[in-house]
Amino acid sequence: MLVCSCNFISEKEIVDTITALLDEDCWQLIVPAKVYHAMQKRGRCCGCFPNVVDIIIRTTEKYHAATHSTDDKIVAYISRLKEFHEENRRAELERRHQGHRAA
Ligand code: FES
Repeated sequence: MLVCSCNFISEKEIVDTITALLDEDCWQLIVPAKVYHAMQKRGRCCGCFPNVVDIIIRTTEKYHAATHSTDDKIVAYISRLKEFHEENRRAELERRHQGHRAA
C-alpha cells in the first residue's frame, strides 16, 4: 500500500526502515523525519506523516513484542512515544492555524 504519494513510498518500505532503525537501537525515538532521512527522502507536503506515526507505533509494538523486552519497558516506551507524537501533532496544528491567520 502506498503511504506517501509525494515520494512513492510503500508501507512495507517504511516498516523495513523502522525495523532496521530498531535493530540499531531498539529504544531510540523514531519520528517520520528520521524514517525518511534513513530512506534518503524528504517530507514534501507531509500529509502522510500522521499515517507514518501510526506505522511507527504499530511496528515498534510488534518489534518489542517479538523480542525479549520486558512488558514494563514496552509500556513506558510506547506511552512516551505516543505522547511525543501527540505533542508534535498539536504543534503542527498550531503552526497551520497560525499560518492561516497570517495569510
Ligand atoms: S504524501 Fe508524503 S510527503 Fe507528501
